[in-house]
This record gives sequence, C-alpha cells and structure tokens, in this order.
Amino acid sequence: MAEAKIILVTGASSGIGAAIAKRLAGEGHTVFGTSRNTGSAAPADGVRMLTMDVRRDDSVAQAVAQLLAAAGRIDVLVNNAGFGLAGAIEDTAPDDMRRQLETNLLGPLRVCQAVLPAMREQGRGRIIQISSLGARVGIPFQGAYCASKFALEGMSEALSIEVKPFGIDVVMIEPGDTNSNFPNAREWTEAAKSSAIYAARARHAVAVMAKAEHAGPPADKVARLVSRAIAAKRPKLRYVCATPIERAAITARRLLPGRVFEGVVGAVYALPKAK
Ligand SMILES: NC(=O)c1ccc[n+]([C@@H]2O[C@H](COP(=O)([O-])OP(=O)(O)OC[C@H]3O[C@@H](n4cnc5c(N)ncnc54)[C@H](OP(=O)(O)O)[C@@H]3O)[C@@H](O)[C@H]2O)c1
Repeated sequence: MAEAKIILVTGASSGIGAAIAKRLAGEGHTVFGTSRNTGSAAPADGVRMLTMDVRRDDSVAQAVAQLLAAAGRIDVLVNNAGFGLAGAIEDTAPDDMRRQLETNLLGPLRVCQAVLPAMREQGRGRIIQISSLGARVGIPFQGAYCASKFALEGMSEALSIEVKPFGIDVVMIEPGDTNSNFPNAREWTEAAKSSAIYAARARHAVAVMAKAEHAGPPADKVARLVSRAIAAKRPKLRYVCATPIERAAITARRLLPGRVFEGVVGAVYALPKAK
C-alpha cells in the first residue's frame, strides 16, 4: 500500500460512509468516522468514532480538534453525512429548505473550514465531497435534496480553485442509487405530510426512487471509488459511480434538448396512467 493517511469520514455510522471508513481502515489508513450518536452502532475494525453533528459549528470544531490532538495532522476529509428531504417544491417552506441545506451544504462547509487551516499548514490535503447524480438532474419531489447537491458542487468547484495553491485537491464523487439506509432515513417536508394536491404523485415518485435505491449496488462500490480518488496522484475533479442506465441518462441530458430530457425524467417518476 501507498503511505498510510489520516482520514476523517463524516456520517460513518451507516451506508456509504460506513463502507468508506471500513474499506480505508482495511487498507491500513488511520480512519476517524463521525456520527451524531457514537453509541448507536459498533464501528468497523480500526475505525475510531467521534461525535459530530454537522449542523453545529461547535460540534464540528470539537471533533476536528480531537482528531488533530490524537493524530497531529489530517490528510483526507470525506464529507459524506447527509439525508434526503422529500416533498413538492410548493410544499417546501423556507424552513424545510434550510433544514436540508443545514446538513447537506452547510455541513460540508463547516467541516471544510475546520480542516483547511491544518491542511494549508501542511501544504497538502484532499477533500472528497460525496455529491450525487441528483446534482446533475432535478428529480421531482426531491427538489430540496437536489438543490443541496447542486449547491455543494458549485461550492466545491470554487473551493477547488481557491485551495489548489496550497496543495489541496477537491474531488466530487457522484453516486447513483446505492443500497444504504438512505431511503429509510428520508424525511418529508411539513406541508407534504398533509398535502392533498401533490400527495399521490409525490408518494409514487419517492417510492420509485426508494425501490431503485434498495435495488442499487452495495455502498462499497462508492467506497472503492473514494479509495481510488485518494490513491490517485492527480485525482479527477469528478468521479461518477453509476449503473449503465444512469450513465446513459447523464449522456442523454448532455445531448437531448432540455424539454425532451425533462419529459423523460417526468415519465420515469410519473404515476402510472389509470386504465
Ligand atoms: N444512497 C444513495 O442512493 C445515495 C446516492 C447518492 C448520494 N448519496 C449521498 O451519500 C451520503 C451518505 O448517504 P447514505 O446513502 O450512506 O445514507 P445513510 O445510510 O442514511 O447514512 C447517512 C449518514 O449521514 C449521517 N448524518 C446524517 N445527518 C447528519 C448530521 N446532521 N450530522 C452528522 N452526521 C449526519 C448519519 O449518521 P448519524 O445518523 O449516525 O449521525 C449516517 O451515518 C449522503 O450525502 C447522500 O446524499 C446517497
């Protein structure tokens, strides 16, 4: 193996984050994982768990300080913690949107800001953002989630250029549907819970998505790609972790007129027509 690295993986109690932490620890790296509740699940062998709620400045600062006190440096940050908020955009109040962005956008912002001083001082580091194919396509009734991942990518593209002179690389990983606890942890906006206008279409669209997630590849597929991005001398800006159908959708989005592609996406998530 190449040189062992000090790595922080947020949201390592479940799914993709747990798989990333397990794989990287198995490769001989020193891995710190985070969870809001470190007592809830036994971590994989060799993974040290830290308590972190990415929605809170003090919690993020404290966990990163603990890591630096224990390890003396940080080579890689994997910003993975996140969840999905479902509901029509008309049923998404500003407070709902804030809740989604607080975890999926401001969370990575906080953790980046907490590790960057150490990485700059070291003159090297790598930040891996677990984004989503939902950063490429607006998925109906998951508009808040897509907004959070589109925003994460815009922020990360800018960050990448800003920190390059310090020897820090920023990488985005875009998983497609992946088998994890994500569909079970999905939340609904307040208004969607009693919405008569969108309820049937929203429930159906989210059920289509959840079915695809449950049937998706194991979380270790994303972990393998993260491992590659860490080992690469010159990592790509983006790595896509997708099935052939998802790859075809990305190509279709590039080639088809916007309204035609929108029609395809709408049809995938649309209620079946009554016979
Ligand atoms: N599964 C998919 O199909 C899929 C596809 C594309 C992208 N992704 C992305 O992959 C990432 C991981 O999702 P997953 O599929 O592995 O879902 P998951 O199994 O539900 O795991 C989510 C992880 O995030 C953590 N988390 C949630 N809110 C947090 C907070 N406020 N502070 C700290 N940790 C928090 C959870 O930890 P605790 O609850 O223990 O705090 C948990 O470890 C997310 O960013 C998601 O958007 C998933």
